[in-house]
Amino acid sequence: MQRVSVLGSTGSIGQSTLDVLARHPKKYRVHALAARQSVDLLFEQCLAFRPVWAAVVDPIAAGKLEVKLQAADSNTQVLQGLAGLKQIAADDDVDTVVAAIVGAAGLEPTLSAVEAGKKVLLANKEALVMSGQLFTDAAKASGACILPVDSEHNAIFQCLPGEQSDLAVAGVSKILLTGSGGPFRTRAPESLHEVSPEEACAHPNWDMGKKISVDSATMMNKGLEFIEACWLFNANPEQIEILLHPQSIVHSMVQYNDGSVLAQLGQPDMRTPIAHCLAWPQRIFSGVEPLDFTQLGHLEFSAPDFTRFPCLRLAIEAARAGGDCPTALNAANEVAVEHFLQGGIRFTDIARVIEKVMTNWTRSEPKSLQAVLKADSEARKAAEIHIQTLHLHANRHTG
Ligand SMILES: NC(=O)c1ccc[n+]([C@@H]2O[C@H](COP(=O)([O-])OP(=O)(O)OC[C@H]3O[C@@H](n4cnc5c(N)ncnc54)[C@H](OP(=O)(O)O)[C@@H]3O)[C@@H](O)[C@H]2O)c1
Repeated sequence: MQRVSVLGSTGSIGQSTLDVLARHPKKYRVHALAARQSVDLLFEQCLAFRPVWAAVVDPIAAGKLEVKLQAADSNTQVLQGLAGLKQIAADDDVDTVVAAIVGAAGLEPTLSAVEAGKKVLLANKEALVMSGQLFTDAAKASGACILPVDSEHNAIFQCLPGEQSDLAVAGVSKILLTGSGGPFRTRAPESLHEVSPEEACAHPNWDMGKKISVDSATMMNKGLEFIEACWLFNANPEQIEILLHPQSIVHSMVQYNDGSVLAQLGQPDMRTPIAHCLAWPQRIFSGVEPLDFTQLGHLEFSAPDFTRFPCLRLAIEAARAGGDCPTALNAANEVAVEHFLQGGIRFTDIARVIEKVMTNWTRSEPKSLQAVLKADSEARKAAEIHIQTLHLHANRHTG
């Protein structure tokens, strides 16, 4: 019986994980669940899965959950704050931690799981993007097994030879990272400044949380995945090529020196990579319908347009620059996306804000978690300042 902690259980990945776990009660036991503030859903999950612990970041929400659980005679104990998240990530009684918190908030709990040598199912790409070297060193030191949940990285993982970690020695010539191109792949570029948060969140193929949906629309998501792939597969940026594939059926590919290309295909449903990681190296039923090749139609592939998607270019530049540049990029993106979702800036301002932060960024090599968090905080402040400047300009033009 594998005992599993799900960090971010109330989100899209968290709920898909619980859907898979519920299909295999004899193999998996939910040990702990965690969220920021979604008390009602977390309460339902606690009743359904009866975890030992439920961790809630927001103290008021934690108090509410405690009252509800007591009234329902539940034995689940409530923890609160970041300390609670770290506790359930590193708990001796846990075998597997699903890292499905969105954004930089997931870094510390995910690192706790890595340092404790857990099997870590990594959906929270931002954690690896922010702290790649630290994260990788911690995994080596503790022996933690990092399995990629992101569908593209999971596909690449499935297409690589398990026994060889050096891509060149394994005969790999290219990692082909595919992406749908999001909802604005063909929209007139001059109309992108009018995009509303609702339009940006309406992904044509995937049903996801708001932040990753906006990242998919700007293609920053593919950029973060590019950086994530460099760390996960010990690849340099020249070994990774991005391909647009609007149907999201081929989830990524690996090209070998002899001309062979291995691809992983499947429905655009995150339960497949989640089930793959949970059971690896075995396979379990995920609840996902098999592909019907007679109904697929044709599959298209093309090169991405970096003018239409400046965020993708900025992310690749940050990957090449290394050091704390990806940390700054990620922080600036999180701030800009949040402002866009709140209606504070335009869709096209997201790339502008990130570009400003990156242009003025002085690269350094973060050697500790404190250094990563400092870079994250400085880039956030710089992004906020650029957003204020945008507002001042807008007021001057309208005033
Ligand atoms: N969705 C996908 O298909 C998909 C695919 C590949 C990778 N990913 C990655 O998986 C991660 C999760 O994405 P998602 O789409 O599942 O996001 P989501 O639906 O927005 O869910 C986010 C989860 O994180 C929790 N959370 C948010 N802020 C937090 C904080 N400050 N501290 C602790 N918990 C916090 C939320 O709790 P509350 O509900 O209480 O706010 C929720 O449980 C992201 O890194 C994303 O890039 C997602």
